[in-house]
Amino acid sequence: MTNQITPRPGIMEIDPYMGGESHVPGVAKIHKLSSNENPLGPSPKAIAAFKAVAGTLERYPSSDHAGLRIAIGQVHGVDPSRVICGDGSDEVISWLCNAYAGPGDEVLFTAHGFSMYRISALGAGATPVEVAETKRRVDVDKLLAGCTANTRLVFLANPGNPTGTMISEAEMARLADGLPPQALLVLDGAYADFVEGFDGGLALVEARNNVFMTRTFSKIYGLGGLRVGWGYGPAAIIDVLNRIRGPFNVTAAGLAATGHLWDTPSATNPLNPGSSASINRALTPIQSRSTVE
Ligand SMILES: Cc1ncc(COP(=O)(O)O)c(C=O)c1O
Repeated sequence: MTNQITPRPGIMEIDPYMGGESHVPGVAKIHKLSSNENPLGPSPKAIAAFKAVAGTLERYPSSDHAGLRIAIGQVHGVDPSRVICGDGSDEVISWLCNAYAGPGDEVLFTAHGFSMYRISALGAGATPVEVAETKRRVDVDKLLAGCTANTRLVFLANPGNPTGTMISEAEMARLADGLPPQALLVLDGAYADFVEGFDGGLALVEARNNVFMTRTFSKIYGLGGLRVGWGYGPAAIIDVLNRIRGPFNVTAAGLAATGHLWDTPSATNPLNPGSSASINRALTPIQSRSTVE
């Protein structure tokens, strides 16, 4: 019998995610720039909470992540009922594609956009559309020109990775205002914490119903190994994403380590005014040895 078991169209176009090198012969501790891992590591409070959870591993974690959502609400001044927590912000990106884009729909991002935008779009059966940048900067005019009646999602990492460039809040607003009515703007704020005074697009989410923001604990908090990210958006979109979110999708360890991060100041706490400066200081000797093309 001929095997007729085949994946949906688009799946075989996905190149499996390739992480950067993790080993250098003879080097015990490496700083993995490809994933922007925090060289300072996580807060001691996060490590203590992680260790404490070992005593209750037989229990499923909270499925509604209420504690973490309330903490995020307090720190960022947002409505916890409109926060959704994921297995890294990768998972939030993939929910957005699965819920809002399918065959015949287009998912836009720019030339140096994060690789998961393309992978998640193809995984959902949608068409990924890469739009050129201008001198490694997101170009709002090009993004708007790339929109069609089929555009459902527009992903914008601000600041970008690996470009490190960013566009202004006025430009983000111009992009949101110019999108076709069926398109959602997703502001990926994985690196927003590194920019003093930048809210990652939060004010735009509050002011419009076509803007969504993603954030992560993987970068400035040094918790990439635990995979915790979150999204914030209009109540109707959070409701949709919660319908496809699996139960217990964030681990007990992830919830424990992130839930109390803000209780006390630490070197990696974004509420500590010195945090991004100290991380930038730590990165300077590493950056000066790398060449960015
Ligand atoms: C721009 C951008 N967005 C999102 C992510 C995903 O982060 P995580 O899934 O660890 O939250 C990354 C990680 O490299 C990234 O660079």
